[in-house]
Amino acid sequence: MINIVKYFWVLLFVFFGTFSIRAQKTIPQVETLLSQMTLEEKIGQLNLLTPGGGIATGSVVSKNVEDKIKAGKVGGVFGVAGPEKVKQAQDIAIKNSRLKIPLLIGSDIIHGYKTTYPIPLGVSSSWDIALIEKAARLAAKEATADGINWNFSPMVDIARDPRWGRIAEGAGEDPYLGAKIAEAMVKGYQGTDLTQPNTMLACVKHLALYGAPEAGRDYHTVDMGKVKMYNQYLPPYKAAVDAGVATVMTSFNDIDGVPASGNQWLMTHLLREQWGFDGFVVSDYTSVNEMIAHGLGDLQAVSAQAINAGLDMDMVGEGFLTTLKKSVEDGKVTEAQITQACRRILEAKYKLGLFEDPYRYSDAKRPAQDILTKENRSLAKEIATKSFVLLKNHNEVLPLKQTANVALVGPLAHSRNNMLGTWAPTGELKLAVTVLEGLNNNFPNVSISYAKGANITDDPELAKKVNVFGPRVQVSDQSPETLMNEAINLAQASDVVVAVVGEATEMSGEAASRTDISIPESQKKLINALVKTGKPTVLVLMSGRPLTIQEEFDLPVSILQVWHPGVEAGNAIAEVLYGNYNPSGKLTATWPRNIGQIPIYHSAKRTGRPASVTGEFQKFKSNYLDTPNTPLLAFGYGLSYTTFEYSNLTVDKREIKQGEPVEVSVTLKNTGDYDGVEVVQLYLRDVVRSITPPKKQLKGFQKVFLKKGETKKVTITLSPDDLKFYNNNLEFVAEPGIFEVFVGTNSDTQLKTVFDLK
Ligand code: BGC
Repeated sequence: MINIVKYFWVLLFVFFGTFSIRAQKTIPQVETLLSQMTLEEKIGQLNLLTPGGGIATGSVVSKNVEDKIKAGKVGGVFGVAGPEKVKQAQDIAIKNSRLKIPLLIGSDIIHGYKTTYPIPLGVSSSWDIALIEKAARLAAKEATADGINWNFSPMVDIARDPRWGRIAEGAGEDPYLGAKIAEAMVKGYQGTDLTQPNTMLACVKHLALYGAPEAGRDYHTVDMGKVKMYNQYLPPYKAAVDAGVATVMTSFNDIDGVPASGNQWLMTHLLREQWGFDGFVVSDYTSVNEMIAHGLGDLQAVSAQAINAGLDMDMVGEGFLTTLKKSVEDGKVTEAQITQACRRILEAKYKLGLFEDPYRYSDAKRPAQDILTKENRSLAKEIATKSFVLLKNHNEVLPLKQTANVALVGPLAHSRNNMLGTWAPTGELKLAVTVLEGLNNNFPNVSISYAKGANITDDPELAKKVNVFGPRVQVSDQSPETLMNEAINLAQASDVVVAVVGEATEMSGEAASRTDISIPESQKKLINALVKTGKPTVLVLMSGRPLTIQEEFDLPVSILQVWHPGVEAGNAIAEVLYGNYNPSGKLTATWPRNIGQIPIYHSAKRTGRPASVTGEFQKFKSNYLDTPNTPLLAFGYGLSYTTFEYSNLTVDKREIKQGEPVEVSVTLKNTGDYDGVEVVQLYLRDVVRSITPPKKQLKGFQKVFLKKGETKKVTITLSPDDLKFYNNNLEFVAEPGIFEVFVGTNSDTQLKTVFDLK
């Protein structure tokens, strides 16, 4: 009897469950199409292939793609670009496959399409949300002009371990800022109407927690409790979903022991049921197959697990294509499950208007109109200038004077191949402007002499590993001594030294984790030798991650962090070095003093045995024997050529009720000699609550321009949600009690006020 009752409820649930999904979403054209499809054709739509035109990030590249499209075995491809090529691909599907279903054309447009912006970690350092949305909009315009209708971006993985090379690809360590950026990018790519030929499907990735691999090693295990997940790591993915992102990509790692691509809790419970996501989910590159290596069974078993868990599309691995039919026959997967995945993919094609016009993205006139336009290049330059972070300005050497003779040295000073940064497969390397060119272009009257001075690394083995996509590190035929002497001679004959040093582009990015994140030895030697000349020295530091630069920081040098700045690299750097733009970037990931401090981030919790406030070592306190707890450079840190003073921090009410906003105001004065932009940052500390609170958390910011001598009142409004957190039951709540509000120039700010939530 009990069994019959149970069976009845299961049936009822399946019936209404299916009914409610359909009632919510049915698109008649898609339903008609589905009713005509064979099981094999439905499975075909779940298959995403690449003929190998882009970066193949796994060990396989798809074979016989054309035949498979004709046979109705492909739902989308990536690595194909250009209106003509995309038209050919669509032709194969439209003219040869039985049901003439158009293809999705995907691509990784991570920081600009052909007009490459700085790496995303750099872009995030601008804290300029409107600019980030605009950049995504223009990237979509360029990419769609080249036939692409689906972007594998934004990458929103929170990263607190700079050993992990893909920290370069995201917005850093903070969930609040990360969520704002995720939302802006989705809006930028998708626009307001996906049927417009200059908008595209966005794909938020990598769900989930991919940025927290053990030991910072790519693809490694992730182990994290739910409270931390919900509060610290999931907000950017959720923000993308709330912004209407059309697709989601899973991550390579496991979560609670189950790889993301086979994780039902993740894809079904969290993403669809809790967050209400109604688009489709794609795996990462062969991540379904990789579940075999994770130890979850053979290809048929892992593919069945993936689709049953809620994965809709299989990237490159063809596990769905080759095993799902058998799994249906074996009773391991239902046809309804496959139909549902297929429905979601067809709906995405429908949303793009591809059924109406499969050639919507194949307008041969568009590339010339939309790609690498003056407007796009000037945007790339603007973003680059705004992404630079002034880490140190020794003796206020910066901005440089145009009367000074410059010795421009360093292995990255004239290295076109390293300007675009990692994950820029669609960028135009040959157009990238080097620092030498940028200085010469923009300041033709300044006397500039150039010498390489050092190799990026002298280690040929490392060079080989980072040269996978072409020469990034060229170990010179000249000896390191000869290279260095040349640079020192130039330095001695000049008024000021600008040394462009740091990482080659592929020293960060995918599968580019490092256990030593300092400046490579060859360049350290150069820097030290330059400093010994006694000439004022500016380090222009390029990297895809926070570096450990304690030694260089302690030298009498100025340091401008420029990431990998994109196609306009040299022009942007020249503008900032000479003060045409006053740097305003702020770090979005903490810079540790040394590798042993990792993970280190501003919103860490206090312990029961906090270290002394003076930083002095105390036995039986939470501190190190050999290093302070504080980082070298805090989250939010960044200097300007001018100085700012904060005062009069107030809240509009000392007591608030649940659901009420709070207005926080501060007076900001430009006290220096230049006009400038400050990123005013607001941090909140929930003093007492039911689970241990972080020391402080970013909950608001505003970019403010002030002329020299100018004073402004800056107001930031905290919304009721800004006071909330996920408690132990994973309920999103604000608990009564005192909140401390900190406002200032970085996360170390001590300027404080309080309010009381009743
Ligand atoms: C990366 C993804 C990317 C995919 C397709 C994978 O290796 O993890 O971010 O979208 O390749 O290029």
